[in-house]
Amino acid sequence: MIRARTSSVDDTRALAAEVAPLARPGDLLLLAGELGAGKTAFVQGFARGLGVTEPVTSPAFVIARPYEGRLVLLHLDVYRLEHLQELHDLGISELLDDGGVTVIEWGDVVASALPADFLEVSMSPGDADDERILSMRWVGPSWPARASALRRAVAAWADGGDRAPA
Ligand SMILES: Nc1ncnc2c1ncn2[C@@H]1O[C@H](COP(=O)(O)OP(=O)(O)OP(=O)(O)O)[C@@H](O)[C@H]1O
Ligand SMILES: [Mg+2]
Repeated sequence: MIRARTSSVDDTRALAAEVAPLARPGDLLLLAGELGAGKTAFVQGFARGLGVTEPVTSPAFVIARPYEGRLVLLHLDVYRLEHLQELHDLGISELLDDGGVTVIEWGDVVASALPADFLEVSMSPGDADDERILSMRWVGPSWPARASALRRAVAAWADGGDRAPA
């Protein structure tokens, strides 16, 4: 588990942009956290780090949207999903096998319908209004070998670190 603290929305984007270079084809990232936690902000920074130039928005009506970058970023928000079956209907297994990076907002809620091989980023409020605590944990075979690289990538945001606020 890696814990980080960000001090603004741009700071969260900057952290996520540092995580993106670690991404490999077929990766799955689950974003957890309440409404307004900063999940979409994380995806925006992650996309920037993948070289996506198109602006990333909240997928309000579509629940899966691809963005072209170094790897294809597939952004899903399953908040409005009512049944896990809809995820299967969407062809989630095929999408995950497509060689892109899949990032799912509220992914923790549907984890039982997904492969047990992912990086989960849980976001929660910090002490100040614009502060967020990000807890990163990994499940399955894909991420343990990258744990130390991930720790280095977000070292500037280490919870309790002395980095100046962005
Ligand atoms: N440190 C921070 N990191 C991320 N967002 C922050 C931070 N501080 C303040 N914010 C604000 O919190 C909000 C986060 O919104 P965002 O859409 O990213 O959340 P979300 O988790 O995707 O919500 P939803 O569940 O509705 O999709 C934005 O208004 C952003 O400006
Ligand atoms: Mg969102």
